[in-house]
Amino acid sequence: MGFLKNIMGMFSSDLAIDLGTANTVVYVKGKGIVINEPSVIAVETGSTRLKAVGSDAKKMLGRVPHNIQAIRPLKDGKISDVDMAEEMLKYFIRKAHNRSMLIHPRVIISVPSQITKADRDIVKRAGRTAGARDVQLVDEPLAAAIGAGLPINDAGGNLIVDIGGGTTEVGLISLSNIVYSFSASVGGDKMNESIVDYIRKTKNIEIGENSAEQIKIELGTAVKTDIIKETQIRGQHIIRHIPQTVTINSDEIKEALEGTVQEIVNAIMKVLDKTPPALAGDIMERGIVITGGGALLNGLDKVIRNKTEVPVSVADNPLLSVVMGAGKMLDDIHFFKNVIT
Ligand SMILES: Nc1ncnc2c1ncn2[C@@H]1O[C@H](COP(=O)(O)OP(=O)(O)OP(=O)(O)O)[C@@H](O)[C@H]1O
Ligand SMILES: [Mg+2]
Repeated sequence: MGFLKNIMGMFSSDLAIDLGTANTVVYVKGKGIVINEPSVIAVETGSTRLKAVGSDAKKMLGRVPHNIQAIRPLKDGKISDVDMAEEMLKYFIRKAHNRSMLIHPRVIISVPSQITKADRDIVKRAGRTAGARDVQLVDEPLAAAIGAGLPINDAGGNLIVDIGGGTTEVGLISLSNIVYSFSASVGGDKMNESIVDYIRKTKNIEIGENSAEQIKIELGTAVKTDIIKETQIRGQHIIRHIPQTVTINSDEIKEALEGTVQEIVNAIMKVLDKTPPALAGDIMERGIVITGGGALLNGLDKVIRNKTEVPVSVADNPLLSVVMGAGKMLDDIHFFKNVIT
């Protein structure tokens, strides 16, 4: 069997996958990132017949005819729809392999650190049904820290904060281990919801999740800016039930996002409070590194720095830190053997 496994390995291109609430990113050993798509799947209502996966499926969210269902199978960092999560993962693994069924890759998948044993098993099984030879899991904060280039193997402390779509994961890492971690169900999705709520309350306009996300990316900010940006938004008037266009500016979006930003800060404070004094000094010196799409929110680093009084830096390509970390593990599987399960 070992011999056969080795032969299979020779022909396979191993994969690292960041199975995120908002986005799934796939890295192929020796090739780099081959897939980076929203974690959305559209099927015929009541069946598992695929209509679209990824970007095409995301466009259908909240606006498809009743015979098609667009689903986000992961919510708040957990698997909320097991069958659909499995279908989606299978689709992406096969796509990364150009649908070749001959190749049985080794796969490393990053999962939220607080995920249940049952969810871990689901992810592993989905990987195997998709044709993987060997499925291993790695905790997201560790993968994020490795991807962001933190010196995780030394004895000092490192604090990583991964702000994704569904969760904010805060991990205190030392000697390649998560010493303490905390995961809060807050991130980019909550920011989008806050924008939807804010516009409904202040302008009587109902907008969709995708429009809210676009506004966030265009105007979103955690701090006051010298130049106030504005944009037009189109939605449905909640009383008159007719489409209407209104203007919204970055100061208003800052106000809409305040509660969510505070929740992110609170999650970080929780871990800082539990940080042993021996590691606290390192954190003060090295600072906090933030990753995940949420780290791109304008001024979020400044707010965290002001409230925690610890220096903060944003990782390069924060949307890719987790997958790049998992990719580094693939490239050097022996070195990282203790952190994958
Ligand atoms: N420029 C930006 N400003 C603010 N938010 C952004 C920006 N770009 C992307 N985002 C947000 O980042 C989030 C996606 O981040 P990411 O891909 O790291 O999440 P994920 O890994 O899928 O989720 P999780 O880690 O919670 O499972 C989305 O909510 C998206 O709207
Ligand atoms: Mg993530």
